Amino acid sequence: YKRITVKTLVDMKSKGEKISMLTAYDYTMAKIVDGAGVDVILVGDSASNVMAGHETTLPITLDQMIYHASSVVRAIDRALVVVDLPFGTYQSDPKEALRSAIRIMKESGGHAVKLEGGKEIKDSIKRILNAGIPVMGHLGLTPQSIYKFGTYTVRAKEEQEAQQLKDDAVMLEKAGCFAIVLEKIPAALAKEVAESVSIPVIGIGAGDGVDGQVLVLHDMIGMTHEFNPRFLRRYMNLYEDMTKAIGLYVDDVKSKDFPNDKEQY
Ligand code: KIV
Ligand code: NA
Repeated sequence: YKRITVKTLVDMKSKGEKISMLTAYDYTMAKIVDGAGVDVILVGDSASNVMAGHETTLPITLDQMIYHASSVVRAIDRALVVVDLPFGTYQSDPKEALRSAIRIMKESGGHAVKLEGGKEIKDSIKRILNAGIPVMGHLGLTPQSIYKFGTYTVRAKEEQEAQQLKDDAVMLEKAGCFAIVLEKIPAALAKEVAESVSIPVIGIGAGDGVDGQVLVLHDMIGMTHEFNPRFLRRYMNLYEDMTKAIGLYVDDVKSKDFPNDKEQY
């Protein structure tokens, strides 16, 4: 695939080809992620934690999301860029939701938006879709609702919440969403959902029965090290490698080893 579109992703699902997705929040990282062949880049509101050091995703603003997304868009040649609508920019009414989504599309050049929630935000999703903006859903553990949940533990373990999640997934497909993220729910439930809809279901902590996987970039490259959920596979240990490298630099400066004769004009 030369350039990934929302249509490509649906084709991938029908062919049984798994979809790879990672977050990115800046130009340099996005360039690497896109060049490595990741299908979808998510400019997640996890930027609130990863980039800004907030405890939750709630504080990040629409302007800040647009800044991150525009940096990512400038880097990519192939991936589909999906941008999170941050907390407070779509929940109060569908018109505000559409205005927020339009700002993301116009000011960042992103290709789609992602919203957390099910039936509560159905009208907002429809309004955004009616304007021609592709929407990705997000069910299960939805971090913008962390103060309602009280913990970041696995969601939908009980029948009532599981049934609501299944209904919401069907609703999202019917409304016209092009994909759904399922976060931290039992693998069996996620598999059932993925089999019940024809749009791709991308999991994070949702097992192997879904159509694709997403991780937070800084977690999978081990740049963060205090967050260790079971679903996280670390491919590098950059926290350690960078700490060592930076320590060596400090030593070299202090010992006057750096710069040497060849490293100056
Ligand atoms: O913001 C984010 O990184 C996300 C993913 C974890 C799905 O929403
Ligand atoms: Na998010």
